[in-house]
Amino acid sequence: MSLLHTDPHRPRYHFLPPSNWMNDPNGLIYWQGRYHLFYQYNPNGPFWGTIHWGHAVSEDLVHWTDWPVALKPSSEGADQGGCWSGCAVNHDGVPTLIYSGEREGNQRACIATSTDGLWTWQSYAGNPVIPDTPAGFDINAYRDHCVWSEDEVWYQLIGAGIRGVGGTAFLYRSRDLHEWDYMHPLYTGDVNRTDPIWTGDMWECPDFFRLGDQYVLVISAFNYEDQKGLYTLYFTGTLANHRFTAEQVHKMDYGDVAFYAPQTFQDAQGRRIMFAWLVEQRSLEVQNANGWAGVMSLPRILTPRADGKVGVAPAPELAQLRGEHFQIDEMTLTPDTPNVLGAIPATIPGDSLELVAEFAVQVAAESATQLVLAVRCALAGEEKTTLTYNFATQILTIDRAQSSLADDVNRSALRGIVELLPDQRLRLHLFLDHSVLEVFANDWACFTTRIYPTRPDSLGLSLSVVGGAVTLKSLDLWALNTIWADAEIRTIPVA
Ligand code: FRU
Repeated sequence: MSLLHTDPHRPRYHFLPPSNWMNDPNGLIYWQGRYHLFYQYNPNGPFWGTIHWGHAVSEDLVHWTDWPVALKPSSEGADQGGCWSGCAVNHDGVPTLIYSGEREGNQRACIATSTDGLWTWQSYAGNPVIPDTPAGFDINAYRDHCVWSEDEVWYQLIGAGIRGVGGTAFLYRSRDLHEWDYMHPLYTGDVNRTDPIWTGDMWECPDFFRLGDQYVLVISAFNYEDQKGLYTLYFTGTLANHRFTAEQVHKMDYGDVAFYAPQTFQDAQGRRIMFAWLVEQRSLEVQNANGWAGVMSLPRILTPRADGKVGVAPAPELAQLRGEHFQIDEMTLTPDTPNVLGAIPATIPGDSLELVAEFAVQVAAESATQLVLAVRCALAGEEKTTLTYNFATQILTIDRAQSSLADDVNRSALRGIVELLPDQRLRLHLFLDHSVLEVFANDWACFTTRIYPTRPDSLGLSLSVVGGAVTLKSLDLWALNTIWADAEIRTIPVA
């Protein structure tokens, strides 16, 4: 008997399967009034293996209904070893999945279609549709798919790494999704370059789209030597002759591997929406005992920005989860101000909330003024997770050193620069859902991580400043409701 329903770390308003293992979001598509979210799923346990595609649908992007498992490894065939990551497209009215079929250590592009409104899926008998990797490259790995159409032509990216060269996304084209012609790498990283950041030696889950006037390539940087994911990066730049030129590169989220393998899609309103896999940061033994592993991020809306970065904000639909509200009006915080979050109503649970606050620093940036927001604080301080913004260095740090008394959890710190222009305010938008912490700073810098406090009293919040004074312009706090009518009786329907 697993501890699934009593585990205090299991999120309540982030999507996850009824039990067992989940990794990447797959096949995101808006289809006839419903959002479809597929995901890498192991029905056999809370560990990676026998990868199927789970499936959930939503009308509002927030509440989800489990649908039958969409893809399962065939007993023999191109996907006998697993149905790895991929995407979904509307092919002249036929819903079509493009995914990596795994067989004997190789992954190849496969397709599957549905004729009953996305409820059940049939893999194409002629899979794989691209039998081999492109000739002339020494490739370390090759998988994951991003497919789009332009002027009646389908384009496909497949993530890969070229030994000694770098991570890459190979570009193909097709008229019918069945026969594909290899074109060239859309863009390739440089494995020998570490400035401003190492882009890995293989790229998983490439995702490419236009956002405003710029093009965005999102990749999950992978270290092939160590067989581990590093972080998600995005490049912004230009496109000419089907070749991308990057002008900037940034981390999609400063939580590094805790926010991995994201995928985006466009909904009926034309919004570019991203989901990612929030990876567990506790031991495999504990995951096994609890019967589940892996959470989906909240839906994030991406927007273009004039400075070449990508704007990122939580989907406004999430506001429907808000319950009890607590508010603080404009006030000055000095190092002597008692904790203004010391007495929040007990009806706002300290492990299921949303907080939005805006701050302005009063003295010029050279003063070492810091803002410290602590969450999941034990009454006597034995556990806490602190978010510190230093107005002089403009570095935001999430310190997990004291986040948990358990010895088998990741306690490393997250750190990222959140530049403020003169007179610009710092706006923090934070979601806490049991073990999940997602922070959006000024609607572009994201910090996502996992925390596993052990003490039942680790539910407190505190807000303080160090150094100079800070004006708190506004603060709103809400209890957030669960998205499940009854999380304990969720079952995946059988088709
Ligand atoms: C990313 C990834 C993909 C692969 C899938 C397998 O997390 O490794 O590259 O297709 O997961 O589950």
